[in-house]
Amino acid sequence: MNLVLMGLPGAGKGTQAEKIVQKYGIPHISTGDMFRAAIKDETELGLQAKSFMDKGELVPDEVTIGIVRERLSKGDCKKGFLLDGFPRTVAQAEALEDILTQLDKKINYVINIDVDNGILMERLTGRRICKDCGATYHLVFNPPAKDGVCDRCGGELYQRADDNEATVKNRLDVNIKQTKPLLDFYETKGYLRNIDGQQQIDKVFADVDQLLEGLQ
Ligand code: AP5
Ligand code: ZN
Repeated sequence: MNLVLMGLPGAGKGTQAEKIVQKYGIPHISTGDMFRAAIKDETELGLQAKSFMDKGELVPDEVTIGIVRERLSKGDCKKGFLLDGFPRTVAQAEALEDILTQLDKKINYVINIDVDNGILMERLTGRRICKDCGATYHLVFNPPAKDGVCDRCGGELYQRADDNEATVKNRLDVNIKQTKPLLDFYETKGYLRNIDGQQQIDKVFADVDQLLEGLQ
C-alpha cells in the first residue's frame, strides 16, 4: 500500500505512523525525521535544513524533493510506503506524482488527520520523545508511567528543539497557509480521506485501520 499521511503540526501523524507501519510492515518515510537525523550527524543536508527548522519555516522544495526521490527509489519501498509530512506544498505534490510515475507506482490514499488549529499548541509544547527508541508521549494526553522515562525501553525523554511556543506558532502559521491548496489538489485527484484526529489515539487508529483493511 502506498500512503501519504497529512495533518498540521501536532495533528498526530507520527503517533499514527508508528501504529500503521507496525501493523502493515511498510517503511515509514518522515521528512522531519530524516532532517533531524541529518542535523544530528552534522551532514551537509543537516546544515541546510537546520536554519529553516529552527525558525519553523519549510526547508526549500528542491532539497526536500531530492531526499524523497532518493528514498522512494530504495528496494524496501517496492512493498509500499508511508510518507509522513511530505508533500507539504503543491510543488512537492506535483513532484511526487512525477517520481511515482517514473517508479510505476500510484498513491492509494492521502489520509488527512483533521484537528482544530486551537488544540495544537498544547499538543506540541507538551510532547516528549524517547531519545533511544523515538516513542512519542504527551505530558497530559499520553503520559509515561514514570516521569521523564520511556515505558517501552527505559530511555530518557526529551523535548524537540522546535516545540517551544514561538517556533510552534510559526510552524502552525506556515503550515495552515500551505494546507488548503494541498487538500484541494488531492481531493480533485480522488485520493483524499479525512480522519477525525480529535478522538483518543486508539480510536483515531481504529478509523485509519478500517480504511486500510479495505486495501488488503
Ligand atoms: P515534522 O517533523 O514533520 O513536524 P510537524 O509536521 O511539525 O509535525 P509533528 O511531528 O510536530 O507532529 P505530528 O503530527 O507528527 O504529531 P505527533 O504524532 O508527534 O517537520 C519538522 C520540520 O521539518 C518542519 O517544520 C520543516 O522545517 C521541516 N520539514 C519536514 N517536512 C518538510 C517538507 N515536506 N517540506 C519542507 N520542510 C519540511 O503528536 C503530537 C503530540 O500530540 C504528541 O505529544 C502526542 O502524544 C499527542 N497526540 C497525538 N495524537 C493525539 C490524540 N489523538 N489525542 C491527544 N494527544 C495526541
Ligand atoms: Zn524508548
